[in-house]
Amino acid sequence: EEKVSVGLLGLGVVGSGVIHLIEDHQEKLAHQLGCKVEVVKALVRDIEKARNIDVNQEILTTDPDDVLENPDIDLVIEVMGGIDHTRDYMLKAFSNKKHVVSANKDLVAVHGPELQEAAVKNNCDFYYEASVAGGIPILRGINEGLSSDHIQKIMGIVNGTTNYILTKMDEEGVSYEDALAEAQRLGFAESDPTSDVEGLDAARKMAILGRLAFSTPVDLQDVEVEGIHGIELKDLRYASQLGYTMKLIGFANFFDQELEISVQPTLLAKNHPLASVKNEYNAVYVYGEAVGETMFYGPGAGSLPTATAILSDVIAAIKAMRLGVSGKQLNDMQFPKTLLPKDK
Ligand code: NAP
Ligand code: HSE
Repeated sequence: EEKVSVGLLGLGVVGSGVIHLIEDHQEKLAHQLGCKVEVVKALVRDIEKARNIDVNQEILTTDPDDVLENPDIDLVIEVMGGIDHTRDYMLKAFSNKKHVVSANKDLVAVHGPELQEAAVKNNCDFYYEASVAGGIPILRGINEGLSSDHIQKIMGIVNGTTNYILTKMDEEGVSYEDALAEAQRLGFAESDPTSDVEGLDAARKMAILGRLAFSTPVDLQDVEVEGIHGIELKDLRYASQLGYTMKLIGFANFFDQELEISVQPTLLAKNHPLASVKNEYNAVYVYGEAVGETMFYGPGAGSLPTATAILSDVIAAIKAMRLGVSGKQLNDMQFPKTLLPKDK
């Protein structure tokens, strides 16, 4: 029986979900792809750590080269987080002709075009559906579903942790600190939740969305960001008395050839469609010139929802491999040519 061997970089909240889903969906995957998908190595920091998934201890390693230099591995799933060293690992994976699937918005927001170029050069695929809005297939929605339209505006709740905190504070009077601790326990928050609560995580996701939707480079420095760390229970109470609820909203607006992106706590009338998006759920409103208003909704964080986005990328990459169309053709579709550095 044919087999595609996968290496994981990271086996935490998301990595465990990926292993669970690959095992659980083995029969379906074999039917869809005509081959078996097997995780053969997983990079972790601490092999002895207790994990919430049963894995063969032999697949665990603390040496990244057991994944990146492993000749048996066809595809690398990066679910460890981090920017600089993770970028180096991905570049190494591409130079060793491995396809890469990542959930890492921090990295994609800053180094996405460079990584995409490395993938193209090596005839590899690079997918990152899970980097924005967890289980919602928003990148495919924009790259494929709405590729026929001129997108003009995006507005969204793209951070699950802050939406969870604001919902718990608003509806149950839970303190900011307790709600954040619960979001961490549930696996929604980043390992350092500062980027969640200060709005940077949402800004990175809006930068990725803006780059893809408007085919234009986006510099994270140009995104205006304000988080929710200063919001108090009394602010939400007063807003509620006036018929409003508070959400951390990302805006991306393309007007006069200029793209403006911002993330800020925003008061919404309680009957606004985004006001009904609660807990870790996300929603992305996309306005296209021809299609008009569209809205994508679903779980924006958490182990299994995020793993579904990753597995959909794995399926896309394996289909491309099996059709012999990995690399340039598909990558050009995913990242418009104008984004690749011109002088390389
Ligand atoms: P996590 O639970 O903290 O897991 C991180 C994993 O990576 C752990 O297994 C850790 O090893 C390993 N790791 C981290 N740094 C490492 C290093 N330098 N060398 C070797 N192994 C290392 O994080 P997570 O929540 O799964 O998130 C992973 C990625 O997915 C992040 O980029 C995050 O932004 C993204 N993401 C998360 C969610 C979510 O809902 N959690 C949703 C979408 C995207 P140990 O287990 O030994 O500590
Ligand atoms: N920390 C992120 C969030 C994980 O809360 O939305 C999903 O990207």
